[in-house]
Amino acid sequence: PTRKKFVAGNWKMNTTLAEAKALGAAVAKGVGTDTNVTVAVCPPFPWLVPVGEAIKGSAVALGAQDVHYEKKGAFTGEVSPAMLIEAGCKYAIVGHSERRHILGESETAINHKVHTALEEGLSVILCMGETLAERERNLQERVFQRQVFAACAGLTDEQFQRLVIAYEPVWAIGTGKVATPDQAQEAHAFVRTKLRQLYGDKIADTTPILYGGSVTPETTAGLMSKPDVDGALVGGASLKADSFVAIVKAAG
Ligand code: G3H
Repeated sequence: PTRKKFVAGNWKMNTTLAEAKALGAAVAKGVGTDTNVTVAVCPPFPWLVPVGEAIKGSAVALGAQDVHYEKKGAFTGEVSPAMLIEAGCKYAIVGHSERRHILGESETAINHKVHTALEEGLSVILCMGETLAERERNLQERVFQRQVFAACAGLTDEQFQRLVIAYEPVWAIGTGKVATPDQAQEAHAFVRTKLRQLYGDKIADTTPILYGGSVTPETTAGLMSKPDVDGALVGGASLKADSFVAIVKAAG
């Protein structure tokens, strides 16, 4: 099965408003209107609308870095899926390791977020991956199995068509220690096998699985050459338009 490559930039808690607008505009210019890669940028919440303006007319889509699990109400500081859609988002990242490990986000909350976001019409970039301690004890497959099962429980086939998985080994995030193409392939193949066992061939064959963790323009082609690596979720290298656009081109 051919899955279209997908490259998303996660800006995390970076950029001033002026930097965000300039970065969005430069990415839009570099990517253009016609690309064989699905491209998204995920700025901080307050910059979503202005970055949406900056990328308008290009093939670059807008995503948020998180979303709340309830549709509305007394949840001080939170942002609902409907708000993100109205702000121009197509995607929301859910379950990023920084939220799981620094902010204590639970697998129950992640499953709830995935459901509400998909029900409300967003597409979801669901992150998962093992910590260094888990890899050192060779527990990574057990971790993916638990994370896939917990996050995706109860989704419909239609909802799965709007789900993208990002495998992000925690030891590779922001460390400069990118997984080798073979390590990524092994993890992605395992995740795909679990999707096949749990949800069937169609979902296993169509769900894009992105790799994230210290991706650079130099490491992209090697990672993308692997059959189960369908794209990249890029942190640090997405903060410079040149390097992000180079990653998009190398993925295509
Ligand atoms: O969401 C993106 C990842 O956490 C990767 O970040 O490319 O800075 O390692 P990084």
